[in-house]
Amino acid sequence: MQEPVILPVPVFSTLANAAFALRREVFVWEQKVPPEVELDHYDLEATHFAAIAEGEVVGTLRLVYLREHVKIGRVAVRQHFRGRGIARKMIGIAMDHARAQGHDRFYLGAQSDKLEFYRSLGFVPFGPEFIDGGMPHRAMRDYDKDSARLAD
Ligand SMILES: CC(C)(COP(=O)(O)OP(=O)(O)OC[C@H]1O[C@@H](n2cnc3c(N)ncnc32)[C@H](O)[C@@H]1OP(=O)(O)O)[C@@H](O)C(=O)NCCC(=O)NCCS
Repeated sequence: MQEPVILPVPVFSTLANAAFALRREVFVWEQKVPPEVELDHYDLEATHFAAIAEGEVVGTLRLVYLREHVKIGRVAVRQHFRGRGIARKMIGIAMDHARAQGHDRFYLGAQSDKLEFYRSLGFVPFGPEFIDGGMPHRAMRDYDKDSARLAD
């Protein structure tokens, strides 16, 4: 496989529509997240990223700029393209994009079985497990790591 192209895409665009379709495929059909919570009001203001390989959108995530940090979410890679480093690369590119605009505090809600993946990207979990979209999650952040550990 050629290296995927990863880029931010406007919310009203063909590429964003393909990314939203991929989210539906992964979260609603595969992971059984209720469709009414998969798309939410943050989608209008978020910065969406698409990973394109072999002529199709095979990965996506979104950044939501909140007052205290940038929230990384809706990280999804099409099943057939998993295990090739696409998610890791997308997250790195998205964080660099936000850093270039002066944002350097990142947060995410990780599915509890994905903690090691996000740990390897520099995130630490904090606080109790919670349910989101029907699945157990932990809050993770890549700043104030010592106090995050204390809050754990
Ligand atoms: C999680 C997901 C986005 C990873 O995408 P990917 O492109 O396959 O990930 P990468 O190839 O970049 O792998 C990154 C690391 O995560 C690990 N990983 C990948 N999928 C994983 C999974 N389902 N569970 C645990 N670890 C996983 C890989 O082993 C890899 O570790 P390594 O770099 O040490 O080898 C993808 O499996 C997916 O879309 N899952 C369904 C949606 C989802 O769970 N999203 C995340 C919500 S927190």
